Amino acid sequence: MSQNIQSVRGMNDILPEEAEFWEVFEETVRSWLRSYGYRPIRLPIVEPTPLFSRAIGEVTDIVEKEMYSFTDSLNGEQLTLRPEGTAGCVRAVIQHKLAAQQPLRLYYVGQMFRHERPQKGRYRQFNQVGVESFGFTGPDIDAEQILMGARLWDDLGLEGIGLQLNTLGQPAERASHRAELIAYFEKHQELLDEDARRRLYTNPLRILDSKNPTMQEMITEAPQLMSHLGAESMAHFEGVQQVLRDTGIPYVINPRLVRGLDYYNLTVFEWVTDRLGAQGTVCAGGRYDGLVEQLGGKPTPACGFAMGVERLVALVRESGGAPETEGVDVYLVHQGEAASRLAPRVAENLRDRGIDVLFNCGGGSFKSQMKKADASGATFAVIIGDDEASVGEVTLKSLRAGEGVRNEQKRVGVDDVADEIMDSFLDLEEEA
Ligand code: HAM
Repeated sequence: MSQNIQSVRGMNDILPEEAEFWEVFEETVRSWLRSYGYRPIRLPIVEPTPLFSRAIGEVTDIVEKEMYSFTDSLNGEQLTLRPEGTAGCVRAVIQHKLAAQQPLRLYYVGQMFRHERPQKGRYRQFNQVGVESFGFTGPDIDAEQILMGARLWDDLGLEGIGLQLNTLGQPAERASHRAELIAYFEKHQELLDEDARRRLYTNPLRILDSKNPTMQEMITEAPQLMSHLGAESMAHFEGVQQVLRDTGIPYVINPRLVRGLDYYNLTVFEWVTDRLGAQGTVCAGGRYDGLVEQLGGKPTPACGFAMGVERLVALVRESGGAPETEGVDVYLVHQGEAASRLAPRVAENLRDRGIDVLFNCGGGSFKSQMKKADASGATFAVIIGDDEASVGEVTLKSLRAGEGVRNEQKRVGVDDVADEIMDSFLDLEEEA
């Protein structure tokens, strides 16, 4: 016997019971995005590999070891499944000259791919909602994007998500800090682990992000970037914080927050919870003023963030926040030749009026169909037998008696059934 084929490790099916939570989440997210004036953009999942190595940085975990890259066997192109959305979004903005006229606020939703070791909250295929703005220089947009996060957690009924904030300054400021940092780490060579040694001359800032317990003390004592920042960078950082203070958003400044992607400057931030175990960052981002130019566009300041949908949906479920999706309005039961010919028309008429209908497919006795109707969670059964069909009527039966729906069963003309159902729903609303 051949073995059943399983899904790829770290790439999960989202089954209906969970997917319904996703849909509620996505609806909340879309209206939240609209309320801040963000417009959708849909981007390819596959991009040329150099886009990511140039944007994210050659010496990053993502580019060094986590990308799903392959050669297109038909034309030899080097391609990569997107590990994140910012690079593709910037490519599209440049390619279509989207930011040429006026500033832009864009969002995208979709799958990302990273070959990480799977664990709770960390997957090889995962979903992000990402937000990117182009053409805004001041700290007001950074602050607005942080406020957006706070509002979304509120809209989703989530608590306990804390904001960590840092500034990475400008490249020249980082360069002078970098020199000091390398000198410091060189003095403590014996404490550096293999990863840190490898990064010492390529990406020493990332060493600050190490979780290795034996390096923590040495890292805490390391020279801080903040003392290399000039007045302009400090003013930008202060501008972001001012808005946060004015709007009452608590935050913690974390000088070790450096992010795993190289394109950032000035503001960086992460929203973190301790309710998800090790993978507690639900949303992260910051400013990346150099990236558009670096990828060949006109210099354009930019700022954005992305959140992990799996992690947020897990939080929503844990906090019991999202409503259960309700059953359909009507289950349509039909048996007999004339009845089964009438039934699809009745169902379509109901749908014309905005009533949701689960149509009994596959036949079965009245009794077994009624069982399915009960199990479906529908509010009403519309029952058509040849009896009813011969006189152009249906039987309307309420299935949720005792929950406010009138407990009755009655014969109704085919053309009146939609009105009857609508009236019952109106009654229900009045009672509620
Ligand atoms: P990131 O920090 O790499 O940033 O990812 C953003 C969020 O995606 C994380 O905070 C986490 O919630 C989620 N995430 C990342 N990797 C995984 C994974 N393997 N499994 C599940 N969830 C994951 C970026 O991707 C930037 N593009 C964000 C950005 C947009 N910066 C500016 N604009």
